[in-house]
Amino acid sequence: MIMKKILIVVGSNNKCSKTKKFMENIKKNIENTNKYIVEIILLGDYKIEFCKGCGKCFSTGECSIVDEFIFIKEKMISSEFIILASPVYLNSITGAMKNFFDRLAYWNHLMMMSGKLGFVLSFTGLTGIEETNYFLRIRSSELGIKVLDSFYFIEKIDDIDYKSHLISKKVIESIECNYGHSNYNLEENFNYYKEFYCNKTTVEDLGHSDNEIKFWNQDWIKKVNSYQEFVMEINKLRRK
Ligand SMILES: Cc1cc2nc3c(=O)[nH]c(=O)nc-3n(C[C@H](O)[C@H](O)[C@H](O)COP(=O)(O)O)c2cc1C
Repeated sequence: MIMKKILIVVGSNNKCSKTKKFMENIKKNIENTNKYIVEIILLGDYKIEFCKGCGKCFSTGECSIVDEFIFIKEKMISSEFIILASPVYLNSITGAMKNFFDRLAYWNHLMMMSGKLGFVLSFTGLTGIEETNYFLRIRSSELGIKVLDSFYFIEKIDDIDYKSHLISKKVIESIECNYGHSNYNLEENFNYYKEFYCNKTTVEDLGHSDNEIKFWNQDWIKKVNSYQEFVMEINKLRRK
């Protein structure tokens, strides 16, 4: 049996991250099923520069910064499930997590993670769960990830063993009970992009977004009528 790959991205620069420690418990529980391989990456273990804001990624489809972020992108591409876990800093995601999303902003416009399933989790002293999970959920969905559930861990209240067991169980259940790759938000995003780029054929039409125009005006994309169909076609292309 081929084991499916779950990637957990921990948005902390803290080498002793408590969020990472918590996610290690979840990894252990999920791997005990012998159905999934789980890899955890801590953003702080990689040399990742801040997004420079040059905007070249939107026009060329490639980031102009050469650094270790490429390894994270490769791991995301090769995983079926992506769990984004952020500590809560000032009632929001961390700077490390924000930079992670900034560096991937051009992937949002192409829904590059289409076909992948995901979860989000915020790890907090006490506050900021809703704001953090809202950000993680919306941005993940923009990348094309179907977010199956949102979780949280509250240091002042929750018990590590009990909560990590509960969350691992929920992760496995929601993966196994999931049907299809679509939901309302993903269909909305897909229709928005298709309409927005449709018939825009020159760079002047859209400023600096020529790679995006090329992408959304491909014949096979013009022929599909829904996000669900889009994912089915993408999966065929990925298998080739
Ligand atoms: C800079 C900073 C800001 C924080 N802000 C909050 C906050 O707004 N609300 C809260 O409940 N906990 C807050 N915490 C606590 C963290 O959410 C949590 O305890 C812990 O730092 C997890 O992060 P780690 O995985 O990097 O160890 C903050 C911690 C730091 C270091």
